[in-house]
Amino acid sequence: MWPDKAQILRELYEELAPVCDLQDLEKVKAKYLGKNGIVKNLSKSLKDIPLEQRKEFGIIANEIREIVEQIFEEKTNYFKELKTRENLLKEYVDPTIPHTIKKGHLHPISLTLDRILNILKSMGFLEKKGPELEKEEYNFDMLNIPKYHPARDMQDTFYVNKEGYVLRTHTSPIQIRTMLSEKPPIYITAPGKVYRKDDDPTHSPMFFQVEGLAIDKHINLKYLKYTLDTFLKLFFDKSLKTRYRSSYFPFTEPSFEVDIGCVICGGSGCRVCKNTGWLEVMGCGMVHPNVLTNCHIDANIYIGFAFGMGVERLAMLYYGIDNIKSFYENDVRFLSHF
Ligand code: PHE
Repeated sequence: MWPDKAQILRELYEELAPVCDLQDLEKVKAKYLGKNGIVKNLSKSLKDIPLEQRKEFGIIANEIREIVEQIFEEKTNYFKELKTRENLLKEYVDPTIPHTIKKGHLHPISLTLDRILNILKSMGFLEKKGPELEKEEYNFDMLNIPKYHPARDMQDTFYVNKEGYVLRTHTSPIQIRTMLSEKPPIYITAPGKVYRKDDDPTHSPMFFQVEGLAIDKHINLKYLKYTLDTFLKLFFDKSLKTRYRSSYFPFTEPSFEVDIGCVICGGSGCRVCKNTGWLEVMGCGMVHPNVLTNCHIDANIYIGFAFGMGVERLAMLYYGIDNIKSFYENDVRFLSHF
């Protein structure tokens, strides 16, 4: 039978019309290009064609095969492309949908501690650590507070049943440890947890302290004042009035309490500054020569200053919080403010 190209293609298009995926396409393709397919059979029937007509028949059969193959190739590509698009649509993520997952963040005390240490680091003070269970000797004796000195009562100590040890009442023993192990010049910060029998809205039996120590040949009171004034200005991020009130610590002489103009009311008087216009923020002084001598540093050559501050106290003033307990209750509603 002489092949009717137009008829074959018309039928093919009819069969392709309802096809809408690769699977259906394969079925139609088998019918045309498969082993016993219409196109294959055309070539097979070539042998039954009289010799003189074979060439022409062959040309037509080839033409039909080429067109049909091309049609199937195009259709296959089309359905493959469609499939890829479908898959992409399934995987599509809409980045504009607002997400409701709450991310955690550092605790306000950690944020404040980092803030304090970063400022002091930028001023040349390197961080040192020490144990919380501390030798009584480092916590008191070497800091010029001998056994029966009344100053021990200043820091209501937690004694433990390990002879000669206490829960450190301040981080000053880190300064002792550093002076014993390093030669001056020394410029360090001593951050960490400290413990005292103290419990009210502004005191907690455990709290964080940052102390600082500078020991060099040329140090004097001006260095101390300049360092702390600069630190406070940077910490509160504004220019502040400061006031150095004479005070007493066994390990410094002279000693001072540092006050700043109230950051809550600006000095006009409020509940936080108890209407004085001033807030006490840290203790400081020139290192007592006895402390240097105890640590084998020549007090005739070297001189130092030291300071100590409560991290919770600074965090409360910085964030405007009036109860220290808020920091330890782990209430997510409170913590999510920072
Ligand atoms: N160690 C003192 C305290 O905890 C703070 C302080 C440190 C004061 C250094 C003066 C100098 O109370």
